[in-house]
Amino acid sequence: MCGIICYIGNQNTVPILIEGLKRLEYRGYDSAGLAAINSENTGSLYLKSVGKVAELEKKVKKDNIYCDYGIAHTRWATHGKPTEINAHPHTDCTGKLFLVHNGIIENYESLKNELIKNGHKFISDTDTEVLAHLIEDNLEDNFEEAVRKALSMVEGTFGIAVVHKDFPRKIIVARRGSPIIIGIGDNEYIAASDINAFIRYTNKVIYLNDDEMALLSDNNITITDLDLKEIMKEPETIDWEYSEDEKAGFKHFMLKEIFEQPKTVENAIRGRVIDGEGISKLGGLEPVLDRMLNLKRLTFVSCGTSFYAGLYGKYLFEMLTDLDVDVDYASEFRYRNLKLSHQDGVVAISQSGETADTLAALREAKRKGALVLGLVNVVGSTIAKETDAGVYCHAGPEIGVASTKIFVSQCVILNLIALLLGRMRGLSIFEGITLIKEIKKLPGYINTVLEKSNAIREVAQKYLPYENFLYIGRHLNFPIAMEGALKLKEISYVHAEGYPAGEMKHGPISLIDEKFPTVAVATNGFTYEKMVSNIQEIKARNGKVIAVATEGNKEIGNIVDDVIYVPETIDILQPLVNVIPLQLFAYYFADFKGCDIDKPRNLAKSVTVE
Ligand code: AGP
Ligand code: GLU
Repeated sequence: MCGIICYIGNQNTVPILIEGLKRLEYRGYDSAGLAAINSENTGSLYLKSVGKVAELEKKVKKDNIYCDYGIAHTRWATHGKPTEINAHPHTDCTGKLFLVHNGIIENYESLKNELIKNGHKFISDTDTEVLAHLIEDNLEDNFEEAVRKALSMVEGTFGIAVVHKDFPRKIIVARRGSPIIIGIGDNEYIAASDINAFIRYTNKVIYLNDDEMALLSDNNITITDLDLKEIMKEPETIDWEYSEDEKAGFKHFMLKEIFEQPKTVENAIRGRVIDGEGISKLGGLEPVLDRMLNLKRLTFVSCGTSFYAGLYGKYLFEMLTDLDVDVDYASEFRYRNLKLSHQDGVVAISQSGETADTLAALREAKRKGALVLGLVNVVGSTIAKETDAGVYCHAGPEIGVASTKIFVSQCVILNLIALLLGRMRGLSIFEGITLIKEIKKLPGYINTVLEKSNAIREVAQKYLPYENFLYIGRHLNFPIAMEGALKLKEISYVHAEGYPAGEMKHGPISLIDEKFPTVAVATNGFTYEKMVSNIQEIKARNGKVIAVATEGNKEIGNIVDDVIYVPETIDILQPLVNVIPLQLFAYYFADFKGCDIDKPRNLAKSVTVE
């Protein structure tokens, strides 16, 4: 959600800020703005616009001056409508201070009333503006001290960047609950809420932790805690890649990411399996292996698509390990009064590693003594840092708001974790070897489905007139039905419901008629016959059915309206093949409708508010 980028160095700053904002666009936002300063003559540029960064860029082109440092922001409104006045940066009464903020200031009302009493004039409806005036209120002759004092008075979450014309060539950034990463270039610093904003310039980074702030100035960076006590941090080098042709010729990032999946699977397993021993080797979990051996229960907590990966994980771990397994929405888990002990493991699954609910859930689990593990894509993200141990997806950035390649990556890695635990607790070497062999074939199976993308596109086109869809699946394919439905509704704004197929007759079957098609995940396996019965029930009520079925199945084509055939693998891995046509179906459906696929309305890539 939302984003921050700021720059200080010897380059013309505004184009860097605009490019950074564009690289943050995928996160979801509703307005944008920047403040940049020329320190020679203290001239400045202060611009905001509603809508796309391109609108801000138009203003910049009209009104450009050379600036050598500055801050910029994309806003995802929480307090106050997405208007130009509410867009960031916000300023104080003197107009000399500019501040951008990600997060929510929870006690903004009481602070605002106090500041108004002290004579401050507010112009926006945001909680953020309070921060600008609060710093002004505390400012004597030391900028850092004023920021520190202001931050000590706020409750809530923040990632901020702030500049002041009276303190030239200084940018202060700070965080609590909202990421700030500092990129270290050649005589320049470029800080942002997301590495993607600056990876073109440098891959040397310093991560700020909660309640830390940094002063970026000429050739110098000072990191302190919020009491201004200095903290020494060494830069880390990250292996995120920068590519000029970001979409690699695909129309959307989502399509590119769907097609990257064979590679994503390879990256997820590279160096992580020992074929001959039928076991996985996960370096990130090694420090806690002893504790993992003593676990009795494992609970997956996550949101959205990552939740469906957890749901898949539940069935998977039940099959491969002797653990009690559970899964919960992070937003629910955090409020439950669960009895957790040191024999509980909680696995936080998150692409971004910044999802506020997942973070809160893992903190709650930690508080109660559970071993907290992470399955995260973004290296160095807050969830990755706060878990006791974990595994990275190593899938590269996922830009499309609708998650695709990370889902498959998460599921593959769940297999590796289950294999590790299973093999330490009774799973046979033969079962281990068989699983590894099939995992290694997954990229090939996924490729086979991708080669059918044109046929899937035709099916999507045929179903364009429909406005409601039911998705059904059983057991390991139930999460796939849920994920398929989520993909369709997220990007095409069409109603789609995922259901365990067996539950259909307990309610949703009343919706079925010729106008309400069903997508049935009905590949071979021990629930196949039951799926066919459910499909017959739908057909008996004139419902149209699109089936995802196993290549070579001669029967199903006679029952359903359309079939998408996929290659067969073992039960455990079949869902990871089955999800591919559902991603493609949703993509083409939304594309035919002309939707903004990579940035669907109202959604954000990284949901940093509760
Ligand atoms: C996926 O398509 C969604 N955009 C969304 O449900 C997402 O999976 C969810 O917000 C969780 O995000 P995370 O994996 O970054 O924690
Ligand atoms: N709460 C602030 C606002 O509504 C910041 C939102 C954001 O993180 O973009 O302006």
